[in-house]
Amino acid sequence: MKGIVFTEFLDLVENKFGLEMVDEIINASNLESEGIYTSVGTYKFSEMLQLLQHLSANTGISIDDLLLVYAEHFFSVLEDSYSGLLATYKDPIEMISSIENHIHVEVRKIYPDAELPTFEVIEKTDNSLVMIYKSSRAMHHFGLGLMNKTFEHFNSKASIVLEKLKADGTEVKFLINKN
Ligand code: HEM
Repeated sequence: MKGIVFTEFLDLVENKFGLEMVDEIINASNLESEGIYTSVGTYKFSEMLQLLQHLSANTGISIDDLLLVYAEHFFSVLEDSYSGLLATYKDPIEMISSIENHIHVEVRKIYPDAELPTFEVIEKTDNSLVMIYKSSRAMHHFGLGLMNKTFEHFNSKASIVLEKLKADGTEVKFLINKN
């Protein structure tokens, strides 16, 4: 997992819960990196999972809710760093249905070692989209947060329903309807 995901995560934890919480979750985890991340480095996903688990235990907020809020913050990082890529889209459904064959393809060119999910488009109309998310990392709520913000970015609204196809969250169907 790319370092930018860790550095932005720890910044958000510091802003919302304070520096003591950052220290607390780093110290409680068993981290090869020792909790020292650079935005261009690459670190094990298991480190993120430990940080999330300890933050969840300390705050009483579920890991899914933490990932949702984190993704909503991460979208503004994407808006700042990849504005050119985002500007190629005029519509949220177009953008979200292009993650697999365009957006993450570009991400892979920048970060060859990125650990990305797959999003298969099952059904698409002007106002609706059905996609299947697959990833061993089960970060579907991170995807949900990015999708929420994608609609907001285009001044649009949608209802998004998740259906787990596997209980561990490694395969999830997204049913997206523009309002
Ligand atoms: C992960 C980039 C848009 C869904 C990532 C990662 C990067 C990235 C750098 C982390 C890879 C790693 O840590 O190794 C981008 C950029 C985007 C974009 C630059 C737009 C300009 C989106 C959108 C979605 C999405 C709109 C909405 C569904 C995900 C998910 C992950 C991810 C769910 C977590 C990894 C996993 O589930 O396995 N993306 N992304 N991305 N991205 Fe994107």
